[in-house]
Amino acid sequence: MKKVLQLCPLFILLLVSTVYSMSNKEVLQMIEKKLFGKLSDGSEIFAYTLKNQNGMTAKIINYGAIVVSLTAPDKNGKFDDIVLGYDNLDSYVADNNYFGAIVGRYGNRIGKGKFLLEGKTYQLTINNGENHLHGGKTGFNKKVWSAEPIESETDPALKLTYVSKDREEGYPGTVTITVVYTLTKNNELKIEYTGTTDKTTIFNPTHHSYFNLSGNMNTTILDNELWINADKITPVDNSLITTGEYADVANTPMDFRSPKKVGKDINADFEQLKFGLGYDHNWVINGYNKKVNKIASLYEAGSGRYMEMYSDQPGVQFYSGNFLDGTAAGKKGVKYQHRSALCLEAQCFPDSPNKPKFPSVILKPGEVYKQTTIYKFSTK
Ligand code: GLA
Repeated sequence: MKKVLQLCPLFILLLVSTVYSMSNKEVLQMIEKKLFGKLSDGSEIFAYTLKNQNGMTAKIINYGAIVVSLTAPDKNGKFDDIVLGYDNLDSYVADNNYFGAIVGRYGNRIGKGKFLLEGKTYQLTINNGENHLHGGKTGFNKKVWSAEPIESETDPALKLTYVSKDREEGYPGTVTITVVYTLTKNNELKIEYTGTTDKTTIFNPTHHSYFNLSGNMNTTILDNELWINADKITPVDNSLITTGEYADVANTPMDFRSPKKVGKDINADFEQLKFGLGYDHNWVINGYNKKVNKIASLYEAGSGRYMEMYSDQPGVQFYSGNFLDGTAAGKKGVKYQHRSALCLEAQCFPDSPNKPKFPSVILKPGEVYKQTTIYKFSTK
């Protein structure tokens, strides 16, 4: 009996370590790491595939913090990839559509790439006509991030970090950004951002997935029903720079306050649509209170897939894939046609640094920028 008692702690230790290693093994299966490709300088880029307990997957690479694929079930339980992207790294290096990427430091445009901050004028890289777009020539979408899988049996996550040096693309201050992608047990792709700086700067990152909820990328998104919780947009000029004013959506093609097919008014004779070649505007979220609220939803009747978007940001850029023209050879060789997917990019308003009426995008040393945006998938 004495011997049995002596052995007992040993047995418990053995049992605990076996259970621990078994559960750990299981956890590791929720995040699979594979080589995705090599950059011209030889650096290796990895793909991390997160899988939740319902079978949903998100494949993310540490180049551009890009979501390469996202699978979700349709009304019959069939999983399809519902985002545009490429099969190989070289195509992402060459890409100018920002497929699936984290965009920054500044999502969307800054007029003439210029802004005044604490009495000093800064000139950013010009990469879109005469303007600065999506962080410049080599934005966050073209950078190598460090990646740290966060194992969990229910909510596997990937934490990505990038340090952007002082004056990168013309921006002041060294900025550290972290992005945590989590695939939750509620079939959500949750994106949490933090940002810090060592000098006063501007900061407005976003996520640029192109969704086609049908999973058939040979179709357009024109029959998708979109709802945006916004009474106003920030109208733009013909170079897509915000005018600094707000415009009511009521009685215009920009009204998505009740779910409406994207294609219903997209070709209407309306100046804002002419400027954007379709929808490419920022909607001003109603009741913005810095908390995570439901801001938009998208429904595709054929598959029954329904996506709800939640965010703590004041705006959302709805871009109807107007620049897709069949030249981008995407996954499985599909050539992505005009309006074959759409983006819903949570953000502060475009060109805010130059628009006194818009919310501030200034980040100071000692402050921590935070953003949470969630895309939640279900069927109906
Ligand atoms: C954003 C912009 C668009 C376009 C796309 C990427 O949505 O507003 O004008 O640049 O990104 O092609």
